[in-house]
Amino acid sequence: MKTTPIVSAAVDFSDPVAIRAPAYDDVYHPRQGAFEQARQVFLGGNGLPERWRGRARFAILETGFGLGNNFLATWAAWRDDPVRCERLTFVSIEKHPLTPADLARAHAASPAPALARQLVDAWPPSTCNLHSLEFDGGRVHLLLAFGDVQAWARALVARIDAFYLDGFAPARNPAMWDRGVFSMLARLAAPGATAATWSAARAVREGLQGAGFAVHAAVGSGGKRDITLARYAPRFVAPAPPGRAIPSEPPSHALVVGGGLAGAMSAAALARQGIACIVIDRHAEPAAETSGNPAGLFHGAVMGHDGPHARLHRASALRMASTAPAALARGVPGRADGLLRLETRLAWPAMQALVDRQGLPSGYVQALDADGASAHAGTRLRHPAWFYPAGGWIDPAALVRDALATPGVAWRGATPVQRISRHGNDWHLFDRDNRAIDAAPMLVLAAATDALRLADLPPQWLKRQRGQVSWAGDGAAPWRPQMPVASGGYVLPMADGRLLFGATSRDDDDDPTVRVGDHADNLARVAQWLGDASLPDPAMLAGRVGWRAVTPDRLPLVGPVPAFDAPRPARADAPRLLPRQPGLWLHSGLGSRGLTTAALGAELLAAWASGTAWPVESDLVDAVDPARWLVRYGVAPM
Ligand SMILES: Cc1cc2nc3c(=O)[nH]c(=O)nc-3n(C[C@H](O)[C@H](O)[C@H](O)COP(=O)(O)OP(=O)(O)OC[C@H]3O[C@@H](n4cnc5c(N)ncnc54)[C@H](O)[C@@H]3O)c2cc1C
Ligand SMILES: C[S@@+](CC[C@H](N)C(=O)[O-])C[C@H]1O[C@@H](n2cnc3c(N)ncnc32)[C@H](O)[C@@H]1O
Repeated sequence: MKTTPIVSAAVDFSDPVAIRAPAYDDVYHPRQGAFEQARQVFLGGNGLPERWRGRARFAILETGFGLGNNFLATWAAWRDDPVRCERLTFVSIEKHPLTPADLARAHAASPAPALARQLVDAWPPSTCNLHSLEFDGGRVHLLLAFGDVQAWARALVARIDAFYLDGFAPARNPAMWDRGVFSMLARLAAPGATAATWSAARAVREGLQGAGFAVHAAVGSGGKRDITLARYAPRFVAPAPPGRAIPSEPPSHALVVGGGLAGAMSAAALARQGIACIVIDRHAEPAAETSGNPAGLFHGAVMGHDGPHARLHRASALRMASTAPAALARGVPGRADGLLRLETRLAWPAMQALVDRQGLPSGYVQALDADGASAHAGTRLRHPAWFYPAGGWIDPAALVRDALATPGVAWRGATPVQRISRHGNDWHLFDRDNRAIDAAPMLVLAAATDALRLADLPPQWLKRQRGQVSWAGDGAAPWRPQMPVASGGYVLPMADGRLLFGATSRDDDDDPTVRVGDHADNLARVAQWLGDASLPDPAMLAGRVGWRAVTPDRLPLVGPVPAFDAPRPARADAPRLLPRQPGLWLHSGLGSRGLTTAALGAELLAAWASGTAWPVESDLVDAVDPARWLVRYGVAPM
């Protein structure tokens, strides 16, 4: 999906009961009230709240988030319903999101003030992304797709039960009512899906009919004589390709091998979707291998080409920005209030030009000259920097333990898994003596490089790269940055006063001992960009060694494991087309960015396995799908 800069809405508030969008010469809702329209047209027209009753999950997709009144009215109705569905997903597409100030103004007299305040507080930066916002303990999930409906029409993956069609009037806003949009509805519709809109335009009715909906008119409100309601009744439904298959019945439970970031976050995300998990690890304690450093960084990325790496790291960083504060509030050590990434190739004007060209908002990233960067760091820096206001650092082992404390997740340590095999509908795990460990219909391999051995996948998909972090005790250095500063290396001020320096990276190095020479390397990298501040003596530092699992393209491996033995389909030029091994999943290859990407990767995996709306756009999923290697190198292992 091509990233386009997001232009915020210009809103005319001069008539408070009929807030206007001058660019479309139309109102956001009828004068009779937005909640009134939401209840009658969108909820009532889709048979809600009755239809979500007794369901584990229910999904709604809206075209045009606008002021968010339909979402708020739906959320309020869900809260008021004692027999509501367990989880409500609300996906909404918006090309021109409001600024936070305009959103707050639009809800100054909201009929649901407490909910409106939560929405305003959670409002994400305006980037062309799918923004995940969770409310009511994660039971209400708002996925905001910022960008043009035409682009999202191809990029969303979800199974939708009810559609709210709420573009501006078709004559003024034809892009919201064209064939691309109606095809999206058909592609995403669950069996029995319904659609509702206030529009009675003939073109809308014909568009819905052409996409396989049975359409009928109903009596409207707000001055509308008729509204349009529809039910998905296609004559034929083409099967989804194997990599886009949405399970009608998710598994009740799963086993996860690997108690590091990938495994723990996957288990927590699956449990939140109602799939109970046991996390199995060869060590007695969680995060005993690579995820056991005392601290690590998380942040986004800006690149000249906004390709899969920049997009994945932006999406991941945005997800961390919305989830890390809750983990910190639960006591996980860390901070999520700023990180500087120094820029050594571009001068500040070129950095600013890049931000402007890509339309990146200041809530995500800011280009700072060396003086600005130094002021943020509280210490002299030699280079300009990218400032990520919601980046920061976190204690990975504590984050792992926090994820493992999610209800529905159980821990089983000191259990090395030697091999796996599938019998009937279950994956069985065995130890070295060929004794059965456990079995489940879903198995997630999050065992870093050992995941490939267990799944009999080509070892070339991951290389082991040794890394060492170094730390100095409180007061060992005569200076201390106010936030983490990263470039080739990094310096991170931990909560307990220690300064953490990172991190070396060497291939083909199996030495587990902490080396003074590597401490010196970590300090030397920081010395290159730090002003005149003196650095501690390497011999006085402590450290820790780990091994990153790195893929050839440096993007993680997230998704169902491809079936090597299955016949290759006639078309196999995209990962989504390749057949999979039922119930077998991979989450590995987190490389040097696991703290940034693990949460989003885990949510993608859980959404994919449970049938909820995916938090990542379709072509970006292809970029992390393990089957990508088969597309690039054919059926045979590389
Ligand atoms: C020096 C260094 C510094 C880093 N700094 C950062 C940073 O600042 N920011 C950042 O985002 N990332 C950083 N990283 C990377 C980050 O630590 C990794 O991406 C992340 O920890 C990987 O998590 P994982 O769960 O995939 O792997 P691991 O943490 O290695 O977890 C895999 C687990 O699987 C278990 N396991 C393996 N095989 C089996 C088996 N057969 N049976 C049972 N259990 C098994 C292991 O015991 C292990 O617990 C750094 C890495 C290193 C080495
Ligand atoms: C009638 S308003 C939606 C009101 C909203 N549902 C609410 O509850 O407040 C229509 C919305 O569609 C958005 N829109 C218009 N054209 C679009 C496009 N091409 N892609 C995505 N959104 C678009 C507008 O910016 C506007 O916010």
